[in-house]
Amino acid sequence: MRKSKFMLSSWLVMAAVMVSGASYAAGAGNAANGKTIFTQGKGAAAPCASCHGENAMGNDAMGAPRLANLGSTYVVKQLNDLANDKRVPEGAGAVMPMFAKELNDQDRRDVSAYVNSLEAAKPELSDLKALKEAGEPVGNPGKGNEIVNFGVTGKVPACQGCHQYNGRGAAPLYPQIAQQKYTYLVNQLKAWRAGTRANDSMGQMRQVAKNLTDEDIANVSAYLSQARLTTSGNSRVPENAKY
Ligand code: HEC
Ligand code: HEC
Repeated sequence: MRKSKFMLSSWLVMAAVMVSGASYAAGAGNAANGKTIFTQGKGAAAPCASCHGENAMGNDAMGAPRLANLGSTYVVKQLNDLANDKRVPEGAGAVMPMFAKELNDQDRRDVSAYVNSLEAAKPELSDLKALKEAGEPVGNPGKGNEIVNFGVTGKVPACQGCHQYNGRGAAPLYPQIAQQKYTYLVNQLKAWRAGTRANDSMGQMRQVAKNLTDEDIANVSAYLSQARLTTSGNSRVPENAKY
């Protein structure tokens, strides 16, 4: 009798942990509604897929970022910042604040849950050769690797200090930057350096970017756009999908 009571209560605790874990995992977002918004748009917001790509892998020609598996908490924060004019992009992304305002709080959680559920999608990496041929100043990935994993002494901290090995992300605070689109990476690093993107908590990214040269930015972006998430020596799989 005693034993079964104990088992029942421990089962209840486990169930509670599983339920709260599950709702955290989904970011309290409904991925099915998120998919509808992503593929069909909502009100004045155009279908997200038309710029961010069918698999939310981004598009260099549009300067549109990959949204898949960055961490849904991060994506919700960006949509809130865009809707509240705390992040005001220039260029092709100048439409984003207007689109974000079309989505209510639940829509933002839903679309973020959807793009974060696309983790298993096949990587679609930036085509650096094509970008170079089109006249983009594509950097040297080897030099970028040094900055990502070791930094520049006295000038720039290693990106992996916050974004983890090869920039694979440390959700919920630090988004995955590995396999992000080249053009978008360059644009963001320049925007932080100039202070035109200023929605990073405690100015962390503005601090990081202030000593980066144009060449450093091209190098880091070239490396990150192709960076592997794991190596044989470091096989921990990113867990962004939980957040
Ligand atoms: C007309 C093209 C276009 C459409 C349509 C579009 N976006 Fe964007 N989006 C962009 C661009 C370009 C940026 C990059 C802005 C910048 O450079 O800061 C962006 C940035 C974002 C970001 C910031 C991502 C990050 O990594 O910080 C989020 C989130 C986002 N969009 C979500 C959406 C959602 C959700 C929809 C659909 C409701 C949508 N976008 C529709 C072009 C578009
Ligand atoms: C001290 C911690 C810290 C370090 C070190 C750091 N970052 Fe970040 N990074 C952040 C934070 C925090 C954010 C999220 C900002 C926000 O909430 O908008 C971020 C966001 C980014 C983004 C935006 C991703 C997106 O999808 O929009 C890029 C790109 C980025 N960092 C690149 C780098 C690079 C490159 C380095 C190394 C040169 C670096 N970071 C080092 C804290 C850090």
